[in-house]
Amino acid sequence: MKGKVKKTEKVANGMFMLQFEAPQGFNVRPGQFVSILCPDLTLRRPFSCADFEDGAVTVLFKLKGKGTSFLAGLQPGDEIDFVGPLGNGFDISDKHALVIGAGVGIAPVYFLNKFLKQSHFVGAFKSEDEVPKDFEPDEVIIGGTILDHLERLIAEHKPEIIHACGPSVVLRAITRCGVTSQIAMEKVMACGIGVCKGCVIKLNRGGVVQNATICHDGPVFDGGEVVWE
Ligand SMILES: Cc1cc2nc3c(=O)[nH]c(=O)nc-3n(C[C@H](O)[C@H](O)[C@H](O)COP(=O)(O)OP(=O)(O)OC[C@H]3O[C@@H](n4cnc5c(N)ncnc54)[C@H](O)[C@@H]3O)c2cc1C
Ligand code: FES
Repeated sequence: MKGKVKKTEKVANGMFMLQFEAPQGFNVRPGQFVSILCPDLTLRRPFSCADFEDGAVTVLFKLKGKGTSFLAGLQPGDEIDFVGPLGNGFDISDKHALVIGAGVGIAPVYFLNKFLKQSHFVGAFKSEDEVPKDFEPDEVIIGGTILDHLERLIAEHKPEIIHACGPSVVLRAITRCGVTSQIAMEKVMACGIGVCKGCVIKLNRGGVVQNATICHDGPVFDGGEVVWE
């Protein structure tokens, strides 16, 4: 699939946004991702959709290596080659939700939060200059970790569900906090379509442990089912 770049912009220290026009008929749900071809790299690079409006997909990404450096240098009008939407996406319900994004994990939950009627949206960042411009949550936590605030957030907002994306250590703690959770997970991916089994995790469904791929069966999982290794 071909996309046409509308905009690339630095939105925080080491973080960029890329917005591109997708072909007509393209649609994507919060939690789903796109995989973008980068020159000289065999494996496409996966990125959560941070927004989708008027046919334009937005991704937010941290500069890591060759692929993300290429994306950061794209200019309006440039063409990109992508596949998507990939993965399952979050459930969207009327439940009172606590929405948590840690670091660039804010991307998929920012998109999700736009669809939720009752939510409190919290973003956690290492420093002030890492808060992405135009993607600000309701509450920003700087320094430490979101886990220092989890008990307070649950007591204050009494969520029926927590939707989260961020580092595994954060997600693991969220799945153990006593509130139903849906978490968007990440792992280095190869095929991105459920074939190579390079992104397998274990789920415990009703006492039966089974394999699931993050790229195809996820990346969003019921927190209570994930077996942490
Ligand atoms: C489903 C999914 C959604 C993602 N969504 C986003 C997003 O919205 N924004 C964003 O910034 N990133 C996201 N990522 C991670 C992103 O795909 C990688 O950062 C990117 O592929 C790095 O490419 P690169 O060529 O710049 O770096 P590389 O040269 O490939 O890697 C640089 C360093 O980053 C590490 N790395 C590469 N891929 C990952 C990964 N998946 N997870 C952790 N470390 C990795 C490598 O091991 C290496 O140390 C997502 C990953 C997945 C699987
Ligand atoms: S990356 Fe190949 S199965 Fe997920």
